[in-house]
Amino acid sequence: MKLKTILFITSFAPVIVFKVIARVGDATLAQAKVATVVGLILAGIQFILSARLIKHTTYLEKTFLGFLGFGTVWVYLTPVHVSSLFVDHSTTLLYFALFLATFIPQLFGYDPFTYAIAKQMTPETVWNTPHFRTINLHLTYFWSMIFFVNFFSSWLGHGRPLFSILIPLVIILGIGLPVVKIYPKYYLKRQFSSQPIDPSLIPGTAKELILRMPMGFHPEAAGDLKAEIQFDLSGEGGVKGVLSISEGKCSFLEGQTSSPTLTIHSPAHVWLKIARQEINRAQALMDGLYEVGGDMNLLMKMGDLFRLPTKAKEEDLTQKGGKKMKILAIQGSPRPKTSNTDILLQEFLNGAQSQGAETETVYLKEKEIHSCVGCYTCWAKTPGACVFKDDMPELLEKVKACDILVYATPLYNFNVTALVKAFQERLLPLLDPHLIKTGEAYRHPQRYAVNRKMVLISTCGFPEVSHFDGLRQVFRHLEQNGGVPIVGELLVPGGELLKQQGMQENVQGVLRTAHRAGIEVIKEGRVTKETEMEIQKPLIPPDDLAEMANLWWDGHLEGITQGKPVQGKVEDMRLLLRGMAATFNSQAAGDLKATVQFEVTGKQAGDWFLSIEKGKCTYQEGKASSPDLTIKTPSEVWLAIANKEMDGQQAFMEGKYTATGDMSLLIRMRSLFGAKKSQN
Ligand SMILES: Cc1cc2nc3c(=O)[nH]c(=O)nc-3n(C[C@H](O)[C@H](O)[C@H](O)COP(=O)(O)O)c2cc1C
Repeated sequence: MKLKTILFITSFAPVIVFKVIARVGDATLAQAKVATVVGLILAGIQFILSARLIKHTTYLEKTFLGFLGFGTVWVYLTPVHVSSLFVDHSTTLLYFALFLATFIPQLFGYDPFTYAIAKQMTPETVWNTPHFRTINLHLTYFWSMIFFVNFFSSWLGHGRPLFSILIPLVIILGIGLPVVKIYPKYYLKRQFSSQPIDPSLIPGTAKELILRMPMGFHPEAAGDLKAEIQFDLSGEGGVKGVLSISEGKCSFLEGQTSSPTLTIHSPAHVWLKIARQEINRAQALMDGLYEVGGDMNLLMKMGDLFRLPTKAKEEDLTQKGGKKMKILAIQGSPRPKTSNTDILLQEFLNGAQSQGAETETVYLKEKEIHSCVGCYTCWAKTPGACVFKDDMPELLEKVKACDILVYATPLYNFNVTALVKAFQERLLPLLDPHLIKTGEAYRHPQRYAVNRKMVLISTCGFPEVSHFDGLRQVFRHLEQNGGVPIVGELLVPGGELLKQQGMQENVQGVLRTAHRAGIEVIKEGRVTKETEMEIQKPLIPPDDLAEMANLWWDGHLEGITQGKPVQGKVEDMRLLLRGMAATFNSQAAGDLKATVQFEVTGKQAGDWFLSIEKGKCTYQEGKASSPDLTIKTPSEVWLAIANKEMDGQQAFMEGKYTATGDMSLLIRMRSLFGAKKSQN
C-alpha cells in the first residue's frame, strides 16, 4: 500500500481514539479530558508525519487537529457546566467542524477540501486542469452539505447513537462515497461529449491518425492561437512528431521540438481508442492512461481544434436530394470479361445496388485512352481540357458526377495495371496546377468541388496480402493529394483461385463478403474494417496455393494441359488431387484416419493417394501400403467429374470408374473436400 494511502487512513485515528476513550464507562469529564489530550497528541503526530513524509497535509488532518485542540482548551479552561457541554456534544461539534472545513476555504480562494485527497488519487499532470478544480469544488460543496445534514441529525437527536452515528454513517457510505466515485466520470462525459463519429473512418494506426490531423484542423476554433503540440506515442503504430499551429494553419513534422506548448506521452493504442471515442480523453488522463505536460487548457481544447470524421446520415448516403447514389467502377484488367477482379467488383456492385445505388462499370480495355504526354496544356492553355479527344473527356465527366469512384485492378508489378495508370494520369485536368500546403505537404487542389469517395478492389496472384502494400501506399497518396477519402479496400490474394473448380465452396464466402462490402459502403458510408480483414484471408494456406500453382504451370509445361489455359477448368490429375487435399474439410472428417488410393489410367496415367489423419489431408505420389479405398479411373473421367462435365454417381453406375474397399468413404468424399476459407 502507498504511504499516501496509509496516512489517509491513519488521519482518522485521532478522532476515533478520542471517541473511544471519551465513551468508555460513563464518559465523565475526567475521561473526556484524557481523551482530548490523547487525541490531540495523535493528531499532532499525524500532522507532522504527513508534512514530513509526503510534504503536504489534508484539510481532514487540519480539521481534526483544530477540533481536538479546541476541545482540549474547552474542557480544561472552562467551568465544569460549560466544559461538560463539549463532552455531551462532541460528535455534533465534529460534524460542524467538518462542515466549516468543507464550506469556508474556497470562499477565500483556498483549495477546496477534497483537493488534497483527490491529488493523492490522480497523476500530478492533471492537477492544473480547470476540470480537476471544478470537479473538486463541486464535490467539496457536496460534502459540506452532507456534513451539515449530519450535524443537524446529531444535534436534533441529542447525541443519541441512531442520530449521531448510524444515520450519518448511512449518508456518508450510502450517498457520499458513491457520488465521489461516479461524479468525476459523469462530469467529464458531459463536458467532453463530442459529436458522434464514424469510428470506421479513423485510421488503423495512431501514426496515420496524427498525420491526418492537419486535414481535420478547424482554423475558426484556433483563432490566433500559436502552439506546438509534441506527440510521443509509443508502441506499435506510434510516432514522435510535432503539430504546429500558427496563423490559422496546422502542419505536422516528425521529430521533436525544443519548447512545445503541450506534450502528450501516450501508448499508441490508448490514443487510438481516444480518437475512436472508446475512452474519454479527459477521463483517461485522470486515470493516468497517458501523460501530458505544459498547457492543459490546450489539451482540453483539442476536441474543438481538430474535427474527426462524423457519422454520415444514412439517407444522405443512399440518396442525395432524391437522387440515387452513383457508383462509377473503373475496371482495369486487360482480360475484362474473364477477370478475377471483376468477379469481386460485380458482387460488390450487386451489394450496393441492393441498397438503391446506381452503378456503371467502365472496362478500360474497351476504351481508347491515350497515355498522358505531359504537355500541361490542360493546366496552362486550356484549363481543365486535354489535347486528346479520345474516350477520356467523357470519362472525366462521369468521374466528376459520381459519388463513389471504384478502382478495380489486378495487381500488376505490385501496382495498378497500365490501363489504370493511363486513366489515372489522364485525370490531370481535374486538378488545379497550384501548389498549396495542406497538412505537412504541398498538393494540387481539385479544380472542381469534390464530394466523392474512393474504393479500391484488387486481386493478386501471390498468396500473401502483403503484396498489396505498394498499391495501398499509392492509393494513400492519391487520397491525400486529391482529398478524396478511401472508404473501402477489398484486397484478395491468391486471386486465381476465384475461378478454380473445386474451390467454389470457399469462393462463395469471398463473394458474400464482397456483397456485404457493397451494402456497407452505401448504408454506412464505408466498408467496415472487419469486412476488409475478412476478405483478405487466404482461400487456402499459402503453401498449398504455391504447390498447386507450381503443379498448374508444370501441367502446361509438360504438355498435360494442352493449348491455352481454360479459365477455371482442372486439366491435371495432380492438381486436382492436390486441390482436394488443400480444401480438405477437417470438421467434416472429425477423427477419421483413412487412405484413398487413385490408380489412374488413360491420358494422364499414374498412382497418387490422399492420406487423412488427425484432421489433415496430405497428397502423395505412388502407392499406399494398405489403402482403405481404391479408386481406379481413367484421368479423363475423374477430371470430367471434377469439372462438372460428368455426373460422378452416374459414371460409377456405368462402370466408368471403380471403387473397392470402404465404400462409405466414397460416399463421404463430397463432404470431406471443399473446406471453408482457411484462417491465418
Ligand atoms: C504482367 C503481370 C504482372 C503481375 N504482377 C503481379 C504482382 O506483382 N504480384 C502478384 O501477386 N500478382 C501479379 N500478377 C498476377 C495477377 O495479379 C493475378 O493473376 C490477378 O488475379 C489477375 O486479375 P484479373 O483476372 O482481374 O486480371 C501479375 C500478372 C501479370 C499478367
